[in-house]
Amino acid sequence: MSKFYITTPIYYPSGSPHIGHCYTTVACDAVARYKRAKGFDVLFLTGTDEHGQKIEDKATEAGLAPQAYADKIVNEFKKLWTFMNISYDRFVRTTDDYHIQTVQYVFEELYKRGYIYKSQYTGKYCKPCESFWTDSQLVNGKCPDCGRDVVETAEEAYFFKLSAFADKLQKLLESGNFLEPESRVKEMVNNFIKPGLADTCVSRTSFKWGVPVNFDEKHVVYVWIDALSNYISALGYHNDTYQDYEKFWPADVHVMAKEIVRFHSLVWPAMLMALDIPLPKKLYAHGWITMGDKKMSKSLGNVVDPFVLGERYGVDALRYEILREMPYAGDSVFVSELFLQRINTDLANNLGNLVSRTVSMVNKYFSGTLPQTRKADAIDTDLINFVKDIPAQVEEKINSMHLSDALEVIFNLISRANKYIDETMPWSLAKDENAKDRLATVLYNLLETIRISAILLEPFMPNTMPEVLHRIGANDDEKTWDSTYNFGTLHQDVTVNMGTALFPRINIEEEQKFLNPSGE
Ligand code: ME8
Ligand code: MG
Repeated sequence: MSKFYITTPIYYPSGSPHIGHCYTTVACDAVARYKRAKGFDVLFLTGTDEHGQKIEDKATEAGLAPQAYADKIVNEFKKLWTFMNISYDRFVRTTDDYHIQTVQYVFEELYKRGYIYKSQYTGKYCKPCESFWTDSQLVNGKCPDCGRDVVETAEEAYFFKLSAFADKLQKLLESGNFLEPESRVKEMVNNFIKPGLADTCVSRTSFKWGVPVNFDEKHVVYVWIDALSNYISALGYHNDTYQDYEKFWPADVHVMAKEIVRFHSLVWPAMLMALDIPLPKKLYAHGWITMGDKKMSKSLGNVVDPFVLGERYGVDALRYEILREMPYAGDSVFVSELFLQRINTDLANNLGNLVSRTVSMVNKYFSGTLPQTRKADAIDTDLINFVKDIPAQVEEKINSMHLSDALEVIFNLISRANKYIDETMPWSLAKDENAKDRLATVLYNLLETIRISAILLEPFMPNTMPEVLHRIGANDDEKTWDSTYNFGTLHQDVTVNMGTALFPRINIEEEQKFLNPSGE
C-alpha cells in the first residue's frame, strides 16, 4: 500500500486557536481523508510548538509555569480539532520527551558534522515571531514580518551554517515543484538567497524555556530548530517512541501559511541536507484568512471563534466556507455576511434542496423505493456525461492543493443536477401513469448524481455527507471513492430515507446581529 505523510505547522499555544489555525488544519484533514479514501496508508500529523521566550512571557503574564500554561492552551487546540472533526493520526508536542530527545540528537549531530559552530550574536530579536534580524532587514526599525518592536540582543550563541547551502537551496527552489505556489519561490530567492544567506543563530542563553543543548547546558536550542524537527521526531527519528521513520519519511507535503515559508524552504531543507536526510517532496504555502482591515483576534468576538461558528451553523458549513473562500495563491477575507449567504445559496438551496427534493419525490411517487424498470432519454446523456468527468477533475484539484477549485467543481455538478430537475420536470411526469418508467429513471439519475457528489464532498464535509448517503439509501459498497467513476453503481431498487433539513436556511440579518452585535 502506498503511504502518504502530511503535516500542519505545529502551532504556538500563545493564545486561543482561531479560524486562521482552522484553515490549515481543515485543509490537511480534507486531503488526508481523500488519500485514505483512495487507499493510501496516511499519517496526518499536527501538534504544538511550546518552547521559546514568547510562551515563557505569556505564562508569566498568566501567572503560570510555562508547562502549565502550555498544557491549558494545548487542550483548547485538541478540543477544537475534535470539534472540527479533524482526523489527525498523531499530535506532537515539543515538550514531549521523545521530541526533546530527537532535537538534542539533531543539534549535536549538526555540531559534530561542523554545520553548527559557536560565535557571538549581536542584533535584533522579535519575540512574537521568534526571529532574529539584522539592522538592514528591519522596516522602520520594526520587525519586517509583524511590524512590532524588536529588542537588542548580544550573547554567545551557536550558529547554523545556512550560508553553505545557498546554491543548493536556490537550485532546489527553482527546480520547479518543491515549493508552491510558484510566486513564493521568487520571494524566497529574491528576498533571502540573492541578498546573501546569512548563518542563522540557533541557540539562546537569555531564557530557559527550551530544549537544552546537551553538550552545553547554558544554551537552549532556538525554537525553529526545535520546531522543524517535529516532522521527524513524530516518526521516531532517533527516539524510541515511534517506529515510522523508514515508512513515512520523506513527507509528501508540509502545509503552512506564507509567513513561515522562509523557515520551511530554507532552514529545514538545509538542516536535512546537513544530516543527509531526504527532503520533503513538497511544501505548500497558502495565504492568510484576514478580517478585512481588522486583525484576527479574540476582541472581534464571535466572528473568529470557531466553536461559536461551528456550534451555530454546523462544523461542515464552517469547513466548507473557509476552504471555499481561500484561493490557491492569495489571501481570503472572512466576511460573516458572505459566510451566511454561502450557507443559504450553496448549502441550503443548491445541495440541501437537491437532496431533499429528490428524496421526497422518491418517497411521494414511489413510496420510498424505486422500481427497477427504466426508460432513458437523450437528455440523460448530457447529465451523465457531465458527471463522468467530475471525479478525475476533483482528484486533480485536490492533489495539487487547489481545494477551493475542487469544491467549485463539485458544486457545479450539484447545480447541473438541479438543472436536470428543471429539464425533466418529474412532477409533471408523475401526473402521467404511462411515464412511471421515465420518472423512475429521472429520480435514479438524480440519486446517482447525489451519491457521487456526496462521496467527493465527504473529505471536506465529513459530518453531513454520510447522512446524505444514508438518505439516498446507498449501501456500503456504493460509497467507495472508486465507485464515483461508475455512474449506475447505486442498486436499482434503492430505498430512500427521509429526514430533516441538512442545512437549514438562516436569517442573515438576524445572524449578522448575533455575530457582530456592535454593527462594525
Ligand atoms: O508559526 N490564515 O505557529 P503559529 C491562515 N510554531 N492560516 C493561519 C492564520 C490565518 N489568519 N493564522 C494562523 C508558528 N494560521 C510556528 C510553526 S512549524 C515547524 C512551526 C496557520 O501558531 C498557518 O498555517 O504562528 C500559519 O502558518 C500557522 O497557523 C502559524 O501558526
Ligand atoms: Mg504566527
